[in-house]
Amino acid sequence: MTPKIKPLVAGNWKMNGLHASLHELEAMTKGYNTELRGFLDMLVCVPATLIHSAAKRTSNTSVMIGGQDCHINASGAHTGDCSAEMIADCGANAVIVGHSERRTDHGESSTTVKAKAGAGLRVGLLTIVCIGETEAERKSGRTLEVLSEQLGQSMPDSATADTVAVAYEPVWAIGTGLTPAVEDVHEAHGFMRKQLTERFGNEGSRMRLLYGGSVKPENATELMAIENVDGALVGGASLKAADFLGICNAYRNIKNT
Ligand code: 13P
Repeated sequence: MTPKIKPLVAGNWKMNGLHASLHELEAMTKGYNTELRGFLDMLVCVPATLIHSAAKRTSNTSVMIGGQDCHINASGAHTGDCSAEMIADCGANAVIVGHSERRTDHGESSTTVKAKAGAGLRVGLLTIVCIGETEAERKSGRTLEVLSEQLGQSMPDSATADTVAVAYEPVWAIGTGLTPAVEDVHEAHGFMRKQLTERFGNEGSRMRLLYGGSVKPENATELMAIENVDGALVGGASLKAADFLGICNAYRNIKNT
């Protein structure tokens, strides 16, 4: 971990959660406020249907609430879509773009992801740009080539360290319980850092690089201690406060060792 960067631990609830689930968010907020505020930033990206209620419940805290996708345009004839303006209007502070489930389920290209990231920035949302290789790409030795391509094409030119975070999520590690070896995460994050610094200078050297894919309380300390890993993007384990806070606590363990 680069010491001068404040880590960001982000939850992605995906298509999970009803209003009844917001008690988990309340427990997360409580844990964050009492023990974790000094160590990291916390963000929970809930389904669009919950953004407004979640933002209301966290309004007096520094826990951030985010969306999981946004449309490129501010408004228009796009049935079923939400714009970045709408997400911000519901009280969100952040948005995820380019998640592999969007790239796969909705055929989103890096060009589209870049435009979506631009929409997030247009309304002042902290924008998390996701990239990651598939199993076939890794097996054929193309991981860094894919990361380079996706990072190069998905990041908007106006990205800064305060407005954008990058999440490296190997597609084969998502929801599978599998994680890359420590050396592989080290290599991928070092590679992304170099590429971002070359393109964005000082901003690139400070941009937060999150690791995502089967992060659990049990493996969080090992993953979060890797150089250039500045936080996590957590799926399944962000649905329960005990698990999510367990992951956040990894940063306290790292500081105390
Ligand atoms: P899991 O933590 O469930 O593997 O999901 C990772 C992810 O896709 C977060 O965006």
